[in-house]
Order: sequence, then C-alpha cells, then structure tokens
Amino acid sequence: MSASPAQARGRGAQLRTPRLLLRRWREGDLDSLAAINADPAVMEHFPATLTRAETAVLVARIEDCFQANGFGLWALEQHDDGALVGFTGLLPVEPRMPFAPAVEIGWRLAHARWGRGLAAEAARAVCTDAFTRLRLDAIVSYTAARNRRSWRLMERLGMRRDAAEDFLHPALAADHALAPHVLYRLDAPGGERGRAAAPGAGTG
Ligand SMILES: CC(C)(COP(=O)(O)OP(=O)(O)OC[C@H]1O[C@@H](n2cnc3c(N)ncnc32)[C@H](O)[C@@H]1OP(=O)(O)O)[C@@H](O)C(=O)NCCC(=O)NCCS
Repeated sequence: MSASPAQARGRGAQLRTPRLLLRRWREGDLDSLAAINADPAVMEHFPATLTRAETAVLVARIEDCFQANGFGLWALEQHDDGALVGFTGLLPVEPRMPFAPAVEIGWRLAHARWGRGLAAEAARAVCTDAFTRLRLDAIVSYTAARNRRSWRLMERLGMRRDAAEDFLHPALAADHALAPHVLYRLDAPGGERGRAAAPGAGTG
C-alpha cells in the first residue's frame, strides 16, 4: 500500500508550489490552526469545532503519522505573507471504514483563504508525492455528502465517485445529518506505481 517508513522518511521533508510551502508542524503554528478549528464556518460539516487543547492533540497525532508512515497532513504556509493557512496531506484510513485499508487525502483551510485555488494547488502537490516518492497505487477521499466544496475539489483533482460506495459514517448515528458520506478514488497515473506525476508542483 505504501513505501516502507524508512524509505518514505528519507526524503520529502517539504513540498513547494507556486503559492505555498507544505511543511512539517512547528510549535508556533498552534494559535493559527486552533483559530481555524474553532471557526464554525470551517467546521460546518464536522460534528463540532475543536478547542485549542484538541488542536494540540491533533498536531501531535499528525506528527506521529509522519514518523510512522513518512506522510501526513502538511502545514500550509503561504509564501506571500508567511501565514499558516491550513493543512493538506495524506493519512491512513481508519480500519473501521468500509474501504479500509487505504490512504486518504484530506484538507482544511482558513475560511478567508477559500475560493483562491489554494487547496487544489496543495492537493496536486500531495498527489504527485503520493504517486512518485511514496509510490502508492491509489488514494481515496471522503466527505459528508453535504460538503459540496470538498466534493468539487475532489472532482477538480480528477477523482471519481462510484455512488455504490456511498456510506454512512460509522462514528455517527445513521439519522445524523452528517452521516451520509461520499467516497472518491484516484488511481496512480497510468495505472502503475510511480508513473507520471500530477502537474503543478515539485518537492522543495
Ligand atoms: C474544502 C476546502 C478545502 C475547499 O477550498 P476551496 O478554496 O473551495 O478549494 P480550491 O482550492 O479548489 O479553490 C477553488 C475555488 O477557487 C477559485 N479560484 C480563484 N482563483 C483561483 C486560482 N488562481 N486557481 C484555481 N482556482 C481559483 C475557483 O474558481 C473555485 O471557486 P468556486 O468555489 O467559487 O468555484 C475548504 O472549503 C475547506 O477548508 N473547508 C473546510 C474543511 C473541510 O470541510 N474539509 C473537508 C472535510 S472532508
């Protein structure tokens, strides 16, 4: 499913796109990410916003994921103002999901940064990294069916949905408004590991 942890850790300390640096997390990022996670507009399609303490736990888990797998959710730093604007990256799908095991691409940006193509730009760099350095066969993404912005981003990346794979999130009651989820998949270019990369980004 993925490169060996040793291979994956050896390179890829950061990724760079025209407008963004995708880097590992620093202590000074906590305030910015906590503000993003506390914003009801950003968290509209999640059961709850996160406290600062919950954000600290999330960052620790992300760093553990990088250590264990050689991939994780990158901190996104915008070149022009140096701001921490959110995250985009890869994480292992929880075993309880109906499509596990798999590697998922995920994203979250500060509300003020939406509508500029930044999430798509970061996600293309992550896809390139997934299919070249990490040599994954495929990645998935999923979201609450109501989260159309996230769907649109998946489709912009060329991901494909099979409605037969729609599912109810196992952590939510079946009648919860956020329970219905859609699943999108993206195979490695050419159907083979490590083939051509997605356009628009390179390792930094
Ligand atoms: C999901 C999310 C990352 C999408 O962000 P986004 O900014 O809409 O996504 P993109 O980067 O693809 O940007 C696309 C938009 O930027 C616009 N845009 C402006 N300038 C652009 C440029 N230079 N290049 C590309 N697109 C540009 C596009 O027209 C498009 O606008 P539209 O939404 O009005 O059609 C964001 O809504 C988010 O953080 N949501 C909260 C967290 C969340 O729900 N995460 C997913 C959970 S599964």
